[in-house]
Amino acid sequence: MSTLAEQRPRRLNVDDFNYTGPGTPAGQYLRRFWQPVYHSSDLTVGQPVPLHILNEVFTLYRGSSGQAFLLEQRCSHRGLQLSTGRVEGDDLRCFYHGWKFSGNGICLEQPVENDLSRNRGNLRSYPVREYLGLIFGYFGEGEPPPFPLYPQFEHFDGYIETNSYLRNCNYYQNLENALDTSHVGFVHGDNSASFEGFGRGSALVAKESDWGVAYTFTRPDGASRVHQFGMPNLFYFLALPVDEDIGWQESLMWFVPISDDRHMQFWLHRVRAEGDMARRIQERREKRRTEIDLAHQDVAEDILHGRMSIRDVDPARVDMVQLQDDIAQIGQGRIVDRSREQLGRADIGVVAIRRLWIREITAMLEGRPLKQWELTQTCIPRAWALDNEQAVVGGAGTKTGDGASPVVDSRPYIEVERELSALHGEPRR
Ligand code: FES
Ligand SMILES: [Fe+2]
Repeated sequence: MSTLAEQRPRRLNVDDFNYTGPGTPAGQYLRRFWQPVYHSSDLTVGQPVPLHILNEVFTLYRGSSGQAFLLEQRCSHRGLQLSTGRVEGDDLRCFYHGWKFSGNGICLEQPVENDLSRNRGNLRSYPVREYLGLIFGYFGEGEPPPFPLYPQFEHFDGYIETNSYLRNCNYYQNLENALDTSHVGFVHGDNSASFEGFGRGSALVAKESDWGVAYTFTRPDGASRVHQFGMPNLFYFLALPVDEDIGWQESLMWFVPISDDRHMQFWLHRVRAEGDMARRIQERREKRRTEIDLAHQDVAEDILHGRMSIRDVDPARVDMVQLQDDIAQIGQGRIVDRSREQLGRADIGVVAIRRLWIREITAMLEGRPLKQWELTQTCIPRAWALDNEQAVVGGAGTKTGDGASPVVDSRPYIEVERELSALHGEPRR
């Protein structure tokens, strides 16, 4: 007979969060939040795609009305992959025997059967929202929570740049890296904005906020930089200047698992530029999108397998920041082994995230109430003395008049190819 202690569920630890399939603790928790899964501009009317996200496969398509729909992967008749089907209006017809489904999963026709009277064959459908150039899905049970809006990214004097990348390792390594400032001076050491002592452990503070974790680094001169981590998988910070016309820009990002050993980062930049300046920046960006013709994922594999060194890389042809982070994060292992890690003072951000995840997911498993995370004005990122550049939560002080700020895709073309291949489930190249 087992003792009570043995019957009690094992305490969660961070390694449990590596796994996000349906039914896993982290998988259940992530599915309680809307997740970005695709770029709006990548989904063509009438061209369904298989979507691999959160260790599951779905069917994503855009109907002729322009609306996007998410259904389960396979036809309810005999299991054909539905992305091979034909879009008819806003419905989807299976390639195999022509069963037809509405965007909300109702089986409308079974042409080779006499009737639908047995009312069978409905599919599960998933709520979809398109927002700021991205397609979001809700994969949890029951009614989705209210869709989180970021009005400070919707209406302002400038435009949104969408970005994203595929990284071939577990998502949680990247999520931990978000609150690991001390890597910046080493991993991105060629960056002119980095300086000695940046991210020294004794100068870091990580505090729970309304939204997740507020993570502050204070320089010896007293100026500080504050990054905001949003539960469960968001990060909001001021990114280093990457263009001569753009200063520090506010960036919001999500880390979303594809499978246990691959993930996406979806990314929005708030670029405060209009008119001629915006045109100049966009021209430079467009040139750069083409100029980058080597996939950082491939170069990272060459380096990780000893075929070359990062010093041999031509920075004109590769996205160096992504390559540097690839090496740091994939180099920990596709799924890091944390059993031998030795954390120090500089890892307090990593520890803070783990603690919140353990607390909340334990509460979820025990049926206790969960904290409702909210991005409030206290959760705005800051960089040194540049506070006057900040967005205001709720959008105050932003563009008046009609229409939202435009959305401009800034992904290198080779990146688009790699991420679509992974999201559609092709094996790693
Ligand atoms: S498998 Fe889809 S209609 Fe037969
Ligand atoms: Fe980095």
